[in-house]
Amino acid sequence: MRDVWNTAELGRLDKSHVWHPFTPNQEWCSADNEPLVLVRGEGAMLEDSHGRCYLDGNSSIWTNIHGHSHPTIKRALREQLDRVAHVSFLGSTNPPAIELAARLTALFPPQTLSRVFFSDDGSTAVEAAMKMAIQFHQQSGAPHRSRFIAFDNAYHGDTLGAANLGGIGTFQKRIEGHQFPVTHISDLNPLGELLKKGDVAAVIIEPLIQGAAGLRTWPRGLLSDLRKLCNDVDVFLILDEVMTGFGRTGTMFACEQEDVIPDFLCLAKGLTGGYLPLAATLTTERVFSAFGGPFEDQKTFYYGHSYSGNPLGCSAALASLDVFREEKVLENLQPKIAHLRDQLARFASHPCIHEVRQCGFIAGIEVRQPDGTPFPWQQRTGAKICMTARRHGLLTRPILDTLAFMPPLCTTTAQIDEGLQALHTAITETLD
Ligand SMILES: Cc1ncc(COP(=O)(O)O)c(C=O)c1O
Repeated sequence: MRDVWNTAELGRLDKSHVWHPFTPNQEWCSADNEPLVLVRGEGAMLEDSHGRCYLDGNSSIWTNIHGHSHPTIKRALREQLDRVAHVSFLGSTNPPAIELAARLTALFPPQTLSRVFFSDDGSTAVEAAMKMAIQFHQQSGAPHRSRFIAFDNAYHGDTLGAANLGGIGTFQKRIEGHQFPVTHISDLNPLGELLKKGDVAAVIIEPLIQGAAGLRTWPRGLLSDLRKLCNDVDVFLILDEVMTGFGRTGTMFACEQEDVIPDFLCLAKGLTGGYLPLAATLTTERVFSAFGGPFEDQKTFYYGHSYSGNPLGCSAALASLDVFREEKVLENLQPKIAHLRDQLARFASHPCIHEVRQCGFIAGIEVRQPDGTPFPWQQRTGAKICMTARRHGLLTRPILDTLAFMPPLCTTTAQIDEGLQALHTAITETLD
């Protein structure tokens, strides 16, 4: 039986009371905007309040892994809900969080990333890593090590600390004057000299591909070179796998592809399969032990949130790991990645397609004017194409003029074809 939704009334109430993220208010609230009201999901598909169906082409902002309404994740959530929904992680613990920590660390070689600190989302996973790195140095006789090195165009979240590491101008200029020491670099060339100065707490990178930069891939080998440079001077490496984690790049974690183990690994978005907000910062025993000692030494890590280690979120994450194993998700993904590569090839022939970038099951299609210059940003060409794609059954968001195509890993080859067809039609309808 289909629920009946009063789309007009929902839209009116939304515009009257809700403030949406990363959204120009005036346009959202204008009379001619009918908000898209999503009411149901099944596998890679979403349904709106009018009963129209769409491919979830950006995995609900890069979160969904195995599809919506997955029976294994739903069952795990219901079972946990019948036990308890939430308990404090300050001064007590709970079975799903304990098991999840053990299973996450078991995904890495023994004696590497053996400790898990839970928080709520990608930004707080990064904040935790930063604070741990700073405090580690304070407690290890090197308090001057307080500078971070991050990359141009990086995005690590929007809490003030994580935002400081970001390298995207539009976001950075809003926090000018509220910054701590961060040096941005565009490649590894200046890094050797910077690291020698002895004031660096950690280097942070989105491995293999930068997401919000416009789905820009790094040259192969850069990550392992970065690890070597950090090792040479014993500087921490933080990997932000908030977007790339959980199969998105074709392996469980992007860092596996260059045999790199970081000192801190930040996970969120896909951790719960995309069902609930939960994040994890994984680190080493070396880091953990620097926070030990008698209470009077005041080495405690005074950081954490009300919903840390939330049992529902952890149950969803455990179920998501079960699905990876039971459904051989990574094995089944490889032919889909190859299929996506084949199907993306036809985009190259359009005069406004500047570049097609792919990393595993993530694709970014960048449009520019036929002479290769970017469209004026005010024209919002990428956004217009995505709005048109919606009419053809594909939901996605652009990053400026890069169109993201990264549906859930369960998406079938037929759905990939339909989604890309929708995107192709939208490009031609908007630009020809
Ligand atoms: C690489 C990366 N790090 C961190 C974040 C922040 O995650 P959240 O929005 O869950 O705070 C994002 C979000 O897009 C991201 O892509």
